[in-house]
Amino acid sequence: MATLAAALALTTTIATVAGTTDLPPGDPSRGEALYRQYCTVCHGATGEGDGPNAPFLEDDRPRDLTEARYMARLTDRDLTEVIRGGGGGVGRSRFMPAWGNTLSPQQVGDVVAYTRALSRQPQRPMALPADPPAAAGARLVAELGCTGCHRIGDLPSAPVAPDLSRLGAKLQRPWLDAYLQQPHRVRPAGYVPLSRSRMPDFRLSPQESRQLTAYLIRLRPEGVLPVGSVQAPAEADGSALFQRLACRACHIFAERGGQAAPDLSLVSQRLQEAWVALYLLDPQAADPRSPMPRPGIAPGEASVLASYLYGGGLPLAAVRTDVEDEEEATRGVALFRELACRACHRRPDEELPERVGPDLSCIGDKLQPGWLAGFLRQPHPIRPWLKARMPTFGLTDAEVEQVTAFLATLRDQGLPPLSPRLQAGGGASPDILQAGARLASREYLSCSSCHLGGDSAAEGAEEEWAPDLHLAGRRLRPEWIVRWLTDPQRILPGTKMPSFFADADSGPNDILDGEEDRQILALRDFLLAIGKAPDSPVP
Ligand code: HEC
Ligand code: HEC
Ligand code: HEC
Ligand code: HEC
Ligand code: HEC
Repeated sequence: MATLAAALALTTTIATVAGTTDLPPGDPSRGEALYRQYCTVCHGATGEGDGPNAPFLEDDRPRDLTEARYMARLTDRDLTEVIRGGGGGVGRSRFMPAWGNTLSPQQVGDVVAYTRALSRQPQRPMALPADPPAAAGARLVAELGCTGCHRIGDLPSAPVAPDLSRLGAKLQRPWLDAYLQQPHRVRPAGYVPLSRSRMPDFRLSPQESRQLTAYLIRLRPEGVLPVGSVQAPAEADGSALFQRLACRACHIFAERGGQAAPDLSLVSQRLQEAWVALYLLDPQAADPRSPMPRPGIAPGEASVLASYLYGGGLPLAAVRTDVEDEEEATRGVALFRELACRACHRRPDEELPERVGPDLSCIGDKLQPGWLAGFLRQPHPIRPWLKARMPTFGLTDAEVEQVTAFLATLRDQGLPPLSPRLQAGGGASPDILQAGARLASREYLSCSSCHLGGDSAAEGAEEEWAPDLHLAGRRLRPEWIVRWLTDPQRILPGTKMPSFFADADSGPNDILDGEEDRQILALRDFLLAIGKAPDSPVP
């Protein structure tokens, strides 16, 4: 007995000397953030081994980390060892990557502490009932980065996409130009792991895309290695290295492999070879938010591996930036700002730029859900003066339903009820519609001096134009139209829309007996009616 205790004490001492247990105990809450970033794609959000990448690991299923009986058999040292050195280091699956080059000893300790907590939960929480669509919509809106362009109450805005400030050293020019015109999924598990964010389609014209490309391709850091400057040992075998490092745990290459990371078969069209070699040396130096483990290889090996991914072909010519580009690049700088690319693409410490989209905090009061769903599927310009535009996210039907349900809940709780006289229902008579048309006409309130109406252009400069009133009937809630006409400044302080009915005697006296309430309702009914007959011009 005494010898056993002595032996145990000895192992502890050895471990301490080796530096594995003299660390302060790991902090499971810091460990949780690391786990989300690096481990969920395989082990799943709850640790059960069911992450989205799990089905692609051939027969090597990621361990269910909540399985208490199994996990109790592993000491903290065992856990530390497998997390640092990977499965291959302890005779287990190579598809469990080695994190020792990426995580500091303290961070490994934190992850170990969190991993322990996963299996110590006495009971797994019961599966929650499916979220009501609105709650799912709220999460989706945050993940997609809507809050980078729109204020939505106090929902926070986190950067959801890669920093583009060194893109010129990374991407190939033709790929970038084509991608901006037709974005598609590059990272199957999302840039923020397991989020549903995606690069939306800004419906750029070929010229706009050229301008943005000309600008972005100039963004390169000083001192990047030129192509070919890292000399590869001639005898090195890229294929063997690729197998040994088990890159297929996360990446597809030649149609086999994981779904946690970009398809490496596309690297040769997408990326610059010198960038890839540097990335393989230290992914977090290229992008601190990269969830790829640092392979821990020498520069020579990195360039062998890179050239293997390029099929051993000729290195690509360095990216050209012509002098003639200068003008396009200048235009690209402005476009990048106007379209608010930085709403999503910024470093975590970078401030959010000014929001370019309308405030959606009370949008449920304003828009009809049917119109909103159609707009989210296929956005189109509404406010002619805006240089920014609402991009197309390519939402699925279920996602459209969730976002619509969430936005419909955003109401102004402090709104006083409408006076009974302003609540009269629609179904207006021809007389009322005619009164509305007269009020809107040039002889009276002259709505079309600002508003677009069908095909007829408004007067004045483009920056002064207001939304097409033919959209109003299908777009706006009738009650909101009444409130807007009654007091637009209450809804949107500073708007150029005049307050026609600011006080009791402001409306014209020769229409509907000069009664403002009836005039407002007549305008409302008129707008609802012309919306349903899109060809009639605004008088
Ligand atoms: C690419 C997928 C993948 C990722 C990412 C991944 N793992 Fe694993 N992990 C596996 C696989 C596969 C196994 C099963 C190995 C076996 O049983 O042979 C495993 C096993 C484990 C085990 C059990 C080891 C044992 O001895 O049974 C632990 C603990 C673990 N992973 C922790 C982590 C942590 C912590 C992270 C994040 C830092 C992580 N894993 C990230 C795939 C992954
Ligand atoms: C890059 C910036 C940007 C992002 C990101 C963005 N929007 Fe927009 N959105 C706009 C702009 C600009 C408009 C105004 C377009 C117009 O009026 O022509 C707009 C308009 C809208 C409108 C119509 C509001 C009204 O009063 O007419 C809704 C609803 C909307 N966006 C919802 C969303 C949702 C939901 C998301 C996330 C899925 C989102 N937006 C992401 C820029 C953005
Ligand atoms: C644990 C999963 C994981 C493993 C293992 C892994 N990677 Fe990655 N890798 C990623 C992720 C995730 C990204 C995307 C990072 C980002 O968001 O930019 C990435 C990005 C890359 C890129 C850039 C791809 C692009 O189109 O932007 C290359 C090249 C790459 N990895 C090569 C490798 C090689 C070679 C190996 C084997 C040594 C490897 N990776 C192992 C997860 C992994
Ligand atoms: C609503 C958020 C959002 C906005 C706004 C946005 N992007 Fe993106 N973008 C993303 C996401 C998310 C990705 C990563 C997608 C993926 O990997 O599948 C991405 C990827 C990219 C990439 C590829 C980068 C790489 O390394 O893979 C480029 C280039 C890019 N965006 C340019 C732009 C430009 C230019 C604009 C403005 C016109 C813009 N983005 C606006 C979300 C956004
Ligand atoms: C001096 C210019 C001007 C005149 C005249 C004017 N409006 Fe407007 N109106 C605006 C502007 C600007 C907005 C857009 C406010 C915003 O969303 O930023 C607007 C918005 C609206 C909207 C909401 C449109 C939407 O789809 O979001 C309605 C409805 C509307 N006006 C009705 C009218 C009616 C009816 C008249 C005539 C009785 C009228 N307006 C006259 C400037 C004007």
